[in-house]
Amino acid sequence: MTAKIISFGIQKGGSSKTTTSGIVSYLLSQDYRVLAVDLDSQGNLTELLTGRDVVEFRGKTILEAMQAQNASGYVYQVTDNLHLIAAEDLLATFSRWLYSDFRAKAINDRSLILAKTLATVRDNYDYIVIDMPPALGDQTINALAASDYVVAMFEASKFCYSALGRFLETCWHVKERVSPNMVVAGILRGLIDSRRSDNKFLIGQVKETYGELCFDSVLTRNAAAGRLAITGFENNNEINQAVSQYRDFLKELMQRVEG
Ligand SMILES: Nc1ncnc2c1ncn2[C@@H]1O[C@H](COP(=O)(O)OP(=O)(O)OP(=O)(O)O)[C@@H](O)[C@H]1O
Ligand SMILES: [Mg+2]
Repeated sequence: MTAKIISFGIQKGGSSKTTTSGIVSYLLSQDYRVLAVDLDSQGNLTELLTGRDVVEFRGKTILEAMQAQNASGYVYQVTDNLHLIAAEDLLATFSRWLYSDFRAKAINDRSLILAKTLATVRDNYDYIVIDMPPALGDQTINALAASDYVVAMFEASKFCYSALGRFLETCWHVKERVSPNMVVAGILRGLIDSRRSDNKFLIGQVKETYGELCFDSVLTRNAAAGRLAITGFENNNEINQAVSQYRDFLKELMQRVEG
């Protein structure tokens, strides 16, 4: 077994990257062995999946795993099938480390740290899911270079529409220069308020611009999904309501990932 690595990103903040990564990791872990990787110093995925204060993970996060270029000592078991490599504030120092202590110069040196780190545990899992930060910095470049499949998240705003083209350009750039086998699996349109005509217009505009690259599934705002950070995934009466629309998306994603 060697894991397929799927990442969720867009540099626009608040586009449901973390919620989607968390729900996809949770759903996949019902049938497969899954490693979720929090690559955002906000530590939101860590908090979502563990319910813990992210500071508790200090010294045992993806930052230290990348510095060691070995993930094995940094895996936290959420459940038998769902494992996590956490993040917290100090991940914000990753770029400083990369250019000072690590002295990265060539593009491959600075872009493949995460890929090399995850290679040390990849055979233990069926899927590795990466939650990217809302920026096009070194963490995002490393996540893209480590990925087999990238999902671009789109929330229905003009700012996100503007961000999407540049995110995809960054993906093509990484594919061309560092990671030729990486595939953009598609654009997931989410956080839609179906009562708003501007939301409908924007999701149509994304379809018009990007065509088949868009997943057919479009995710709407759902209060239970929004509350997951409070309720968690266990002993949560609302869980089915929170994740139901994600099951259709996951089916589509699996078709694109499994070919
Ligand atoms: N399907 C949904 N329905 C309702 N609320 C949602 C849904 N998905 C996410 N949210 C809420 O929207 C906000 C942003 O979501 P989330 O944190 O997942 O986005 P993000 O892209 O990871 O943000 P950031 O760019 O800060 O990392 C959160 O408050 C979250 O609870
Ligand atoms: Mg997030």
